[in-house]
Amino acid sequence: MHTSDLHFGRPAVEEQLDSLKSSIVELAPDAVAVSGDLTQRCSTFEFLKARAYLDEIRETAPVIVIPGNHDVRWIGAVARNLDVWRKTAHDFKYSKYTRHISPELNPSLEVPGTPGAVIAGCNTAHGISRGSLTRRFRDLGVIGHVNQRDLRKVEEAFAHAAPDDARVVMIHHNPIRGAVSGRHGLANTRQALRSFADLGTELVLCGHDHQDAVHTVEEGAPGLVVSTAGTISNRLRAGRPSSFNLVEIDESNLRITTYSWRNPEGFAPSREHSFPRRAASRSA
Ligand SMILES: [Fe+2]
Ligand SMILES: [Fe+2]
Repeated sequence: MHTSDLHFGRPAVEEQLDSLKSSIVELAPDAVAVSGDLTQRCSTFEFLKARAYLDEIRETAPVIVIPGNHDVRWIGAVARNLDVWRKTAHDFKYSKYTRHISPELNPSLEVPGTPGAVIAGCNTAHGISRGSLTRRFRDLGVIGHVNQRDLRKVEEAFAHAAPDDARVVMIHHNPIRGAVSGRHGLANTRQALRSFADLGTELVLCGHDHQDAVHTVEEGAPGLVVSTAGTISNRLRAGRPSSFNLVEIDESNLRITTYSWRNPEGFAPSREHSFPRRAASRSA
């Protein structure tokens, strides 16, 4: 199960979070992947709420989680960009996330099965940094990028994958332009997607745009599937409901079902996409 942008704090909707938890129990996924923006204002209170929630989910399924731009502290981000106390500023920037959620910003998870999967988390939330510079002032500190050091972590994670395992990368920022927002989340989209494809990635999980979407990449990394999970909060885009994506992978197909919020029933399947697996077409 792939979910994103829970935004604990004012945007959180308790009813939806409870329903998401029930869906996890009901669907019993092999893993729950949470692609960032756990908090709204990066506050300790919000992180504590997020941590307690993740711990409850962990009772049902293993959880892999990465930070989003809302989970990074700004002062540290600015200081790092100015090269002031580089290490200290870097630690400060992620200190709340690492204290309350996980010390690992690029975690990975091996999901056993036939076929199995390896999910590699790749942190794209660097605050205001050189790689994320943008001319659009309102995107300052919002846009993300994929850097070489984090890519190496993905490579290391995939080194443990069996040949038939699905290689899945999870990032926070959407590499595909949002249909309603018109925004790319990543500064170096093309390069990032090509690097992921070169590492044998079949599927990229992301969030950030607050609008669910499923795409295949045409240029640079043809056939790569991108699953953008919507938000579970009241920060909705153009009236689109909260949603999460369920990803099912077998030997030959990859299927993504979007579950959307329908009051009062809870989350229900609303759309389905199916793709032949890249690994299957390679060995055919
Ligand atoms: Fe978000
Ligand atoms: Fe975000």
